[in-house]
Amino acid sequence: MHATNIHIFDDSGQAAAAAGDALIACAQASGARPIGLATGQTMTPLYDHLLKIENQENSLFASTVFSQLDEIIGRPSPVASFAHELTTSLFSNFRTAPAGFLMIDGQAGDPAGEAVRHCHAIRKAGGLAMQLLGIGVNGHVGFNEPGSTDDSRCRIIDLAASTIQRNGYDVGMQGITLGIADIRAAEQIILVATGAAKAAAIGAMVNGPKTPDCPASLLRDHPDIRLFLDNEAASHIC
Ligand code: GLP
Repeated sequence: MHATNIHIFDDSGQAAAAAGDALIACAQASGARPIGLATGQTMTPLYDHLLKIENQENSLFASTVFSQLDEIIGRPSPVASFAHELTTSLFSNFRTAPAGFLMIDGQAGDPAGEAVRHCHAIRKAGGLAMQLLGIGVNGHVGFNEPGSTDDSRCRIIDLAASTIQRNGYDVGMQGITLGIADIRAAEQIILVATGAAKAAAIGAMVNGPKTPDCPASLLRDHPDIRLFLDNEAASHIC
């Protein structure tokens, strides 16, 4: 990766705000092409930043279609879904609703069919103008766990033991995720990582071999990928 695409900040709040500003700029320029959102703790300060700006500038996302990166399959309560989290913590707090939200239904009776439907919905909407990503401690992006290849598409995936443990999921939990090929098809990629726990994964992504063992490494030659990191997450970059 070119060093100019790696933005390193003194603290996680600054990294989140800068990534949020980059997302806003892309949303403003992309018309109705979808902007892909991620979930996870890393995104909380970034979404707080989007909310702050949206509340100051009415109708900021009135023309924006958002889309979902990944989802847990078959959680007992739909209230625990990523789609619900994005709707309640972000969209419902906007002063003006976004133009649309392409969501994944983790309760769908046919999860494999739901994955294919989601992929088609994004393509029909013009393809991703941008995909926002976090990173797992094992180098996963979305739920593309180690072993995911660069031609992988939106699909059902078995979650890695470390993901299950870190997120407090039940053993055997599965997810639906955009594949590496779907993420690479986005015109822009913005990846945000903060905290020392992500340092090894970011080091492997940037400096390690390009390998399915670190799925994030399969993104690094994307023509328009930017990393927004705090000092701790950047500490293993050579
Ligand atoms: C989760 C999600 C990813 C997220 C990542 C990091 O399992 N599937 O989309 O980016 O892991 O999460 P966090 O920011 O909570 O560390």
